[in-house]
Amino acid sequence: MTKPRRVITIYLPHREPVIIAAFTILLWSALLLTCISPLLPPEWFAGSQTGQPDIFVPNTQLASLAINRRVEALLSKMTLQDKIGQLTQYSAGEMTGPGTGRTDYDALIAQGQVGSLFNVVGAKLANRYQRIAVQKSPLHIPLLFGYDVIHGDRTIFPVPLALSSSFNPSLIQQVAHTSAVEASDDGIRWVFSPMVDIARDARWGRITEGAGEDTFLGSAIAGAYIRGYQGTDLSKPDSVAACVKHFAAYGAPNAGREYNTVDMSELTLRQVYLPPYHAAINAGAATVMSAFNPLNGVPATADPFTLTKILRHEWNFDGLVVSDFGAIRELIAHGVASTGAIAARKALKSGVDMDMMSDLYRTRLAGLVTSGDLPQSVLDEAVRRVLRVKFALGLFDHPYADETKPPYVATPQKRALARRVAEETIVLLKNSANPVPFTGKVLPIAKTTPVIALIGPLADSQIDMMGSWSAAGEPTDAVTLRTALQERCDWAKTQLLYAEGIAAAQKADVVVLALGESAPRMTGESSSLTRLDLPGNQERLLETITKLGKPTVLVLFDGRPLAIKWAAQHVPAIVEAWYPGIEAGPAVADILFGDANPSAKLTATFPRAVGQEPLFYNQLPTGRPADDIDLTHPPTGEDKYFSRYIDETNAPLYPFGYGLSYTTFEYSKLKLSQEKILLDDIMNPKPAHFFSTPSDIEVTTEIKNTGPVTGTEIAQLYIRNTGGSVEEPVRALRGFQRVTLKPGETKQIRFTLGFNELSYYNLDMNRVIEPTEYQVWVGGSSNATLGTQFEVTEK
Ligand code: BGC
Repeated sequence: MTKPRRVITIYLPHREPVIIAAFTILLWSALLLTCISPLLPPEWFAGSQTGQPDIFVPNTQLASLAINRRVEALLSKMTLQDKIGQLTQYSAGEMTGPGTGRTDYDALIAQGQVGSLFNVVGAKLANRYQRIAVQKSPLHIPLLFGYDVIHGDRTIFPVPLALSSSFNPSLIQQVAHTSAVEASDDGIRWVFSPMVDIARDARWGRITEGAGEDTFLGSAIAGAYIRGYQGTDLSKPDSVAACVKHFAAYGAPNAGREYNTVDMSELTLRQVYLPPYHAAINAGAATVMSAFNPLNGVPATADPFTLTKILRHEWNFDGLVVSDFGAIRELIAHGVASTGAIAARKALKSGVDMDMMSDLYRTRLAGLVTSGDLPQSVLDEAVRRVLRVKFALGLFDHPYADETKPPYVATPQKRALARRVAEETIVLLKNSANPVPFTGKVLPIAKTTPVIALIGPLADSQIDMMGSWSAAGEPTDAVTLRTALQERCDWAKTQLLYAEGIAAAQKADVVVLALGESAPRMTGESSSLTRLDLPGNQERLLETITKLGKPTVLVLFDGRPLAIKWAAQHVPAIVEAWYPGIEAGPAVADILFGDANPSAKLTATFPRAVGQEPLFYNQLPTGRPADDIDLTHPPTGEDKYFSRYIDETNAPLYPFGYGLSYTTFEYSKLKLSQEKILLDDIMNPKPAHFFSTPSDIEVTTEIKNTGPVTGTEIAQLYIRNTGGSVEEPVRALRGFQRVTLKPGETKQIRFTLGFNELSYYNLDMNRVIEPTEYQVWVGGSSNATLGTQFEVTEK
């Protein structure tokens, strides 16, 4: 049965004029509202009906009511000892610092005195420890297993500095996801990665573990790692919790010396060093690692300014903070704690929730709480943060790894991905004409070349191809350049002479020199250098062989920019291969023979001399710039009192963003959507409507492939802001895109400059834009010359 409809009839004496009047009023009201809407309070238009300001939650899982209810329920059952156990972490494998003297982990776990283990690899071993925690510990709380999965777990990809040279965040996300799947298969649900420390000094060995010197690129890459590791749901078996490290500013130790003090203005900290950590947090990173270094006089592991004010209050981080290896005990060496108890109290109160390998939380916290020196509430909060991550990962519901999975094999699919990634990370630094009497360019090497000599200590070293931190990867999986070239030569019926030094070079038509650093000894943690030239007698070998006048290619396998000034002047071709991972040989061979066209660009500046370090492209201006001075000779008179060296030019050997291809690209038709923009329009973007003005500037340019082969260009956009209240860098990257073009093809690309790209910190530490002028350049490196400008005005 249908409901009877009620019909209301309104009597209108003269209908038509009334209807027309009503329509007219409605139309005018709508028009008026559209016009005045920018002047009305924005919340009138916002979706929120609560009247409360919305608090940004970077990881909704950690903030979820369901998880937090479970946390509270468990917390209410925990004794003081149970709680402290959750804040304690030990390495049950390899050590990268002093041990604690304890290895009786089975007993400690059974008593509920361990919250996390690291360096336990393999489902079986992890499950063995997990069974003790789940079956025997008082509250059956599962362990969280951590591991340094830095650029792959078993499938080892290029080192992070190399990965960043791809300028390809989505590729890096894929690398991180592959690593997450393999780590999870190995029983690991927490990776101590990404390292997002900005590094501007090639002497620092850990420059190899990060994304280089640039904040904008580093922030994009930081987010990509998090999305790759964590996915959209931490509880999925193929996702792992990421650990953003090392908070904060670990990449800026004085003189590039490992673990050294860091001293910088708050402006530089916020402008240059913090954004990548923040980007990772905003992408939902579940955990953070506090750094070893002091920052402006306070050790980072006991620094309430960074750990509480910035991380918790400004960024609303809900996850857990773990100390670096033994860093809580190191507070004593830093001279800010005279006893272990004081070190533990300072670290916990500042915001370090879990103690990695100091054994001070486990042994000192109970005393501190009982004596009243540490509020119980501070301890409880740290426990909540640990449990939240464990619940979010689904460890309480699925504590065990699947032991039935077949053992790892570097399958053709995994190798194909590793090879593609490696090819995107290799930078072609130089490719000049062959020495007379040869013709053409040195690279790519002709496939029919009769005799190739391969010389150098890195030509056939599997271990070096794996980089300095290769997790559970096996060096035996790595294919060296020698193996890859030999395969190609056998197939092409040409001859490869390997490592016979000068004799081989003399007999060859092309010489490939594989030189560089020893990955495990010279790069990574605790591998700072005072010299950046080729180590040992490699420079002599290089010079002797280059002087034979043969077509010679220098292939560098290393973890940092080296000072290769002689090579840049004399060797006809230079390929920066970094440490490319398990598919090193095939990837480098593809580049050498032109089966892959190099596209990567430097993310760390190459110096001419070590004395230029720290060297980076986005320097702040000086009052006496030496831009128009000839710096190739010592000063002779009026050219002295400038910001310059007297024994070397200021310019780098190879700048940030630089890298060649086997084709060439031309940029043209650089255009801006407008040459002026109102400050208010950028600062307070209005809802788009008919009369609204744009809140950003669109930059368009055309790129043409002017060379003979298909290639991928990494187009870069730089800005300079002049006229603000604080100094801004002489150039700053604010956009990048990978563009693939066939020979002769042209594409238009578009960048957007809005609040995120144009804003900076003022002296009140607020992110602002001021009425000022911006210069804009687009091109294939930080030396891009095609430029224009626009103004931000108040009216
Ligand atoms: C490193 C960290 C690493 C930790 C655990 C420390 O020495 O600084 O990056 O995650 O060891 O292995």
